[in-house]
Amino acid sequence: MTQPPAPSAKDKLIIFDTTLRDGEQSPGVTLTANEKVEIAKQLSRLGVDVCEAGFPIASDGDFEAVERIAKEVGHLMTGRMSPTAKPMTICALARAVPADIQRAYDAIRHAPNHRVHTFLATSDIHLEYKLKISRTECVARAVAAVKFARDIGCNDVEFSPEDAGRSDRTFLCTVLAAVIKAGATTLNIPDTVGYNTPEEYGAMIRFLVDNVEGAKGVTWSTHCHNDLGLATANTLAGVANGARQVEVTINGIGERAGNTSLEELVMAIFTHPTAYPVYHTIDTYQIYHTSQLVTKKTGMVIQANKAIVGANAFAHESGIHQDGVLKNKSTYEIIEPAVVGIPSNSLVLGKHSGRNAFRTRLSEITRNSIYEDAMKADASMFEKLFAAFKKLADTKKSGVTDQDLFALLDDQLNVH
Ligand code: KIV
Ligand code: ZN
Repeated sequence: MTQPPAPSAKDKLIIFDTTLRDGEQSPGVTLTANEKVEIAKQLSRLGVDVCEAGFPIASDGDFEAVERIAKEVGHLMTGRMSPTAKPMTICALARAVPADIQRAYDAIRHAPNHRVHTFLATSDIHLEYKLKISRTECVARAVAAVKFARDIGCNDVEFSPEDAGRSDRTFLCTVLAAVIKAGATTLNIPDTVGYNTPEEYGAMIRFLVDNVEGAKGVTWSTHCHNDLGLATANTLAGVANGARQVEVTINGIGERAGNTSLEELVMAIFTHPTAYPVYHTIDTYQIYHTSQLVTKKTGMVIQANKAIVGANAFAHESGIHQDGVLKNKSTYEIIEPAVVGIPSNSLVLGKHSGRNAFRTRLSEITRNSIYEDAMKADASMFEKLFAAFKKLADTKKSGVTDQDLFALLDDQLNVH
């Protein structure tokens, strides 16, 4: 475990990953069921508490993917290095209508821990132009949806007032109090269009925590979009004001400018352990590998200057910076790359590289991963990988990248 053991004064922060749902809503991204299962397995290794696997009513393919994740991944332990290890909760999204909720529940119910996440817009803009319903009707539909989910046997029900960031605060209190009474256990507050600033979003969470009736015992959750580049800052403001679940995606992928990025949020908390009174079970060593896997499967290339996982995130160009880092890394590095699983040496692998350099790189990028376990289990595997690497290096002029190495591992090891 890369975080210190949880001091008893700290609350658990639930990490809800929506890479496979909101992340898949990134323009141009479609994942197959196999790819979703593979990513979900890696999310459980990473230590995610809740995996939002998809939106089953959207297509038969998505239903099948969510159902397979519930059956094949739902029993896997998450946060396995922490004393609170448990099977990852598998969640599915549903609009606030019975057919959606039934379909979501049918897909997830095979997992030991499962959750239905239902949503309905609450902002006047959405009520008037999209749904064409009154506020009274909105409350009635939200309550009916949560009741329906509970009545068909789902005990873990999350409700989201879509576009909460632009909704009237008093009306939000009315809707949320009503859905709590109906049986909602998690209240998620989406800034659907990425409109809020950290001050606004933090104040909204504080206002709701303090004013929604009957909220004792429910979990407050953040869900921020990055239209103004503020998703991570808004999420942190939510945590500082009482949220104990964060909805995030790997590499920050998602609708339009994306969602809060898991790696940014986790490392902000890592570097400021006293500012946020929470602990979590993310194994930070898994971050780079997970990021690379999501890049490969979604085809969404990470911008070079992306925080934590971008190619330049730990690169130093100017002479002054290089001089400082050579003298002492802490001069210009706030995180050791190895803590997020990024190889700390800059050896370029190519056809002249020997076993030692190859072994070093491989062990750095696979530390604590599913690949490491598989390589340990097969003594002859290293030589097979080395031979495959040499073959590739002979044909690749630009050097062999970490992406190439992960592809070799996928080819040679039957891990997923
Ligand atoms: O951004 C949003 O409002 C959502 C909801 C469905 C939670 O993704
Ligand atoms: Zn969203």
